Amino acid sequence: MDSRSYKILVTGGAGFIGSHTVVALHEAGFVPVIVDNFSNSQPSVLEGLEKITGHAFPFYQIDCNDRDAMAEVFAKEKLHGVIHFAAYKAVGESVREPLKYYHNNLNSLIVLLELMAERGVQNLVFSSSCTVYGQAEKLPVTEETPILPAESPYGNTKQISEEIIRDSVKAGMPIRGIALRYFNPIGAHPSGLIGELPLGVPNNLVPFIAQTAAGIRPELSVFGGDYETPDGTCIRDYIHVMDLAEAHVKSLQWLDQQSGKSLYDVFNVGTGRGNSVLEVIKTFEEQSGMPVNYKIVDRRPGDVIQIYGGVSKARRTLGWEARRGLAESMRDAWHWQQQLGKEA
Ligand code: WQD
Repeated sequence: MDSRSYKILVTGGAGFIGSHTVVALHEAGFVPVIVDNFSNSQPSVLEGLEKITGHAFPFYQIDCNDRDAMAEVFAKEKLHGVIHFAAYKAVGESVREPLKYYHNNLNSLIVLLELMAERGVQNLVFSSSCTVYGQAEKLPVTEETPILPAESPYGNTKQISEEIIRDSVKAGMPIRGIALRYFNPIGAHPSGLIGELPLGVPNNLVPFIAQTAAGIRPELSVFGGDYETPDGTCIRDYIHVMDLAEAHVKSLQWLDQQSGKSLYDVFNVGTGRGNSVLEVIKTFEEQSGMPVNYKIVDRRPGDVIQIYGGVSKARRTLGWEARRGLAESMRDAWHWQQQLGKEA
């Protein structure tokens, strides 16, 4: 498939997963068109992307909910497809401010779908999440695992978004849509020029580990040591963000081979392996050579005990599988943290 000069709209393209996907798109010969309002990212990410790729991609600082502004992008750029990352994603915040999440995450998707139909843009890759599975009975979870009622408004927006795309296709909208259910994205681009930029105190485990090792945080709290797991701590499927980025490229290339028909499908995007919190800490210490000061404290409400993905469908259909392991992810996370420290 010749993807040269195919323009791909990347909403949230200055974000953690979005920016790494911009690199993977460029490397595969696509032309990313970035939309971001910097509500959870920073302009410095664009500089990092230019240093890595040698290109300043078309960029629009607009909110995906701004239909007129988005319509102008669709009118100006001859788009071949869309990858929709832009969404609020903090589980705890979504419980405190549900309407903010329902409005932003759902309305932005509806605006995109309407403009895609108006402009004849058919390929959509949607950023979904393993959070739709909740605490599944049987592991690994597969795409056929029953979806449990969401445990947070954030997770519910992902479930509803998948249904919006599915129902739009069923209603005859000429869209070829894929929902990628991410597990836990970690690590950073090996250059150390882009990575996870948590604004404020990190919610997620790996940036908190890296900041503790860097001396920015005095101690990591391990939320719960008495779970029914081998070492008592929760288990997750941690996937290198570059593996995740490459799954989006494979998805677009697969969608191009499905031309002539509308479709909706979902794929798990993980490593297929589970690691505990203590295993992640140990691997980070081994790879960075830095001790991580931590204390086991009470469980965090809302945490599932363990989840990791069955990923054979993505391998079979998209020809994609994760190639990087936990050790490489930890090396790249520490390298990125060290670059951040230098900037600070
Ligand atoms: C992982 C494990 C924590 C921080 C969330 C969202 C998910 C996706 C990724 C958006 C858990 C433990 C964490 C800390 C800890 N986000 N932990 N101390 O909760 O699996 O997934 O982020 O798409 O949708 O739900 O990721 O990194 O927060 O937690 O012990 O300071 O690390 O209890 O067991 P999570 P996480």
